[in-house]
Amino acid sequence: MKVLVTGVNGQLGYDVMNELNKRGYEAIGSDITESNDHFSHYVQLDITDQEAVESVLMSVKPDVVVHCAAWTAVDLAEDDDKVEKVKAVNTKGTENIALVCKKLDCKMIYISTDYVFNGQGDQPWDPDCKDYAPLNVYGQTKLDGELAVAHNLDKYFIVRIAWVFGINGKNFIKTMLNVGKKYPQVKVVCDQIGTPTYTYDLARLLVDMAESDQYGYYHATNEGGYISWYDFTVEIFKQAGYTTEVLPVTTEEYGLSKAARPFNSRLDKSKLVKNGFKPLPTWQDALSRYLKEIEY
Ligand SMILES: NC(=O)c1ccc[n+]([C@@H]2O[C@H](COP(=O)([O-])OP(=O)(O)OC[C@H]3O[C@@H](n4cnc5c(N)ncnc54)[C@H](OP(=O)(O)O)[C@@H]3O)[C@@H](O)[C@H]2O)c1
Repeated sequence: MKVLVTGVNGQLGYDVMNELNKRGYEAIGSDITESNDHFSHYVQLDITDQEAVESVLMSVKPDVVVHCAAWTAVDLAEDDDKVEKVKAVNTKGTENIALVCKKLDCKMIYISTDYVFNGQGDQPWDPDCKDYAPLNVYGQTKLDGELAVAHNLDKYFIVRIAWVFGINGKNFIKTMLNVGKKYPQVKVVCDQIGTPTYTYDLARLLVDMAESDQYGYYHATNEGGYISWYDFTVEIFKQAGYTTEVLPVTTEEYGLSKAARPFNSRLDKSKLVKNGFKPLPTWQDALSRYLKEIEY
C-alpha cells in the first residue's frame, strides 16, 4: 500500500508517517516547508496550490491519502485579514486533494473536528449527525472541507477528533507543564467537556482504516471518559509529579477568547467498534506514555 500524508511537520501527520513506516508501507510525507529532517520520502506541497496538488498526487499515485494538513490556529482564524487564508487551506486545500483522489480512484482520510457542531447540550455527538452549526471560522472551514470530501468521493473516511496532543508540536499538555512549572497555581476551565486524543494512538487507527473499506464518518478520541480541561490538568500535574494547585473556573470567569469554544465536545465513538475497528486506549494511559516521551 502506498500512502501520501499531508501535514507531516505537525502533530498528527508526523505520527501517521511513523506508523506507516513501522508497518512497512510505502509512506510519502508532505507539508508546506521545502524540506523535512525526519522522513526520507518527503515532498513539498502547498495544498492551496491546485496545480501542485494535481501534479504531486498524479505522480505519486497513492492508494490512500491521509490528509492531516490544516490551519489549526483557532483564535487567529477569527482575524479579518486571515479568514480568506483559513478558507484556502482548510476548505479549498481539502477540495483540491479530494478532486485528485477522485481522478485516481484512491481512498481519502480527512481529519476533522467536533467544532463542526454547536457544542450545546450534554449528549455525545453521533458521527452521522448532520446538525452542523460551527461556532467559529475554523469550525466552518473544516466543515466545508468535510462537505467537499463527501460530495466528491465515495471512498472516504471523515474522522473527527478533539483535544489533540502529540510529540511533534505545541499542545495543551506542553503549555500546562510550562505554566505549572512557573506558577504555584493555575486557573483552568471546568465547563468545556470532551476527551483528549493522543496522535500516536490515533495514527494506529487511521492506518487500520487505510487498510479497510469501512468508509464513512467516524469519531475517534482516546477512551477513558468525558472530562473537563480542569480534570485533564489535575491528572497532568499528578502524573508529572507537580504540586501546582489547579483552580476550576467557568469559561465566563476565565474571559472570552477570540473564537467561541464548544462546551460539549463529547464524541460518541461506538461506531468504531460496530464497524470492526479497535478503540484507542484510555486518555490516562495515553498521558502516562506521552509524559515518558517528552522533556519537561
Ligand atoms: N490540534 C487539535 O487540537 C485538533 C483538534 C481537532 C481536529 N484537529 C485536526 O487534526 C488535524 C491534525 O492536527 P495537528 O494538531 O496535527 O495540526 P498541526 O500540528 O497544526 O499540523 C498541521 C500542519 O499542516 C501544515 N499546513 C498549514 N498550511 C498548509 C498548506 N497550505 N499546505 C500544506 N501544509 C500546510 C502546517 O504547517 P505550518 O505549521 O507551517 O502552518 C502544519 O505542519 C488537522 O486537520 C486539524 O484540523 C486538530
